[in-house]
Amino acid sequence: MKRLMPLLIVLASTLAVTAAFAQGAPSKGLALTPPMGWNTWNKFGCNVSEDLVKGAADAMVSSGMKDAGYQYIVIDDCWQVKRDEHANIVPDPQRFPNGIKAVADYVHSKGLKFGIYSDAGTKTCAGRPAGLGHEYQDALMYASWGVDYLKYDWCNTLPGQDAKASYRNIRQALDASGRPIVLSICEWGGRQPWLWGEEVGGNLWRTTGDIQDHWAGHHKWPDGSCCSNGVLDIVDQNEPLYSAAGPGHWNDPDMLEVGNGGMTNTEYRAHLSLWAIMAAPLIAGNDIRSMSPEIREILTNKEVIAVDQDPLGQQGRRVWKDGDLEVWSKQLQDGSRAVLLLNRGSSQATVTATWEQIGYPAHLSASVRDLWAHKDLGKSSGKFSAPVESHGVVVVTVKP
Ligand code: GLA
Repeated sequence: MKRLMPLLIVLASTLAVTAAFAQGAPSKGLALTPPMGWNTWNKFGCNVSEDLVKGAADAMVSSGMKDAGYQYIVIDDCWQVKRDEHANIVPDPQRFPNGIKAVADYVHSKGLKFGIYSDAGTKTCAGRPAGLGHEYQDALMYASWGVDYLKYDWCNTLPGQDAKASYRNIRQALDASGRPIVLSICEWGGRQPWLWGEEVGGNLWRTTGDIQDHWAGHHKWPDGSCCSNGVLDIVDQNEPLYSAAGPGHWNDPDMLEVGNGGMTNTEYRAHLSLWAIMAAPLIAGNDIRSMSPEIREILTNKEVIAVDQDPLGQQGRRVWKDGDLEVWSKQLQDGSRAVLLLNRGSSQATVTATWEQIGYPAHLSASVRDLWAHKDLGKSSGKFSAPVESHGVVVVTVKP
């Protein structure tokens, strides 16, 4: 026992330090509502630069998006080119001639937050140097640049690499930097991050493969490889996972395609609304420097955004389905419901939500407000019905 004492003391103090650290982890209390922001990937791919990111930060403010709640400006893949002789990660000197900190400083000067991208393997999905074995070194670098959000991908990992352990490792590295940094887990669902993402300190985790800018269907690529994810495919994969979501930890059905040109404005309204009712992160992925007034209006609909950002943090779900017609419901903090009527079909149809479907007694009289028309529709008892256009939604709040 005497010989064991020093060992026990070391063990006990290590545990105490670990516990204290976990309690006061800088990332505690982040992303209490789903993160909102903008990311380079969906529209620009590898074509990232200081000018683009600064321009997006300007546009975030001038378009009213910041005012509507969008906050993070995130550089996705391809900002990095190599590691230097000390293994420090090096940004592309042509595209970021003043380094990343200058860009982060600019973003912060606009009252916004700054995010960046790396990967848990040896290379990112676009083949750039990634984080494996450099987690603490990179985290310190990111913190020194002022990074507030890290999207961490899962390409080029080692055979047998453990996803849960890898994401726990990068979370601990980020916390050890002392800076509060949101961790966006970008494993695409194969390793079921909704089962362990919260435990390892992830704030959001992808639930599906990459979104594509179309409404539905597993479209094959020109080379015959399979498949891309339309909005409806993603929705069907993300919906059953609702119980994993809550304040600080969200299912991420991928970033928005609103405004990228592959869908109609009706479909884009449905896309944003479905993300909002699913309490999904709202990360715009279009060129916000030059969007049409209609697209800006869709992205900045504060009433729909309020559904997404409701502090109760419940992920809404489908409560009724008949063929192409669906009713979705999300409980809000004040006890009211956000209700979404969806028409997947090719012609207009009337959809009815009954109070029973949304967890209210049938006799209850409740006020209905249309969140796209911005109009009070008066009181209803028992149900609410509305015509819904093809590939469209009607979104209302129902308040007893
Ligand atoms: C993966 C991710 C995308 C994007 C690219 C970048 O495909 O799922 O969101 O980050 O990598 O290469």
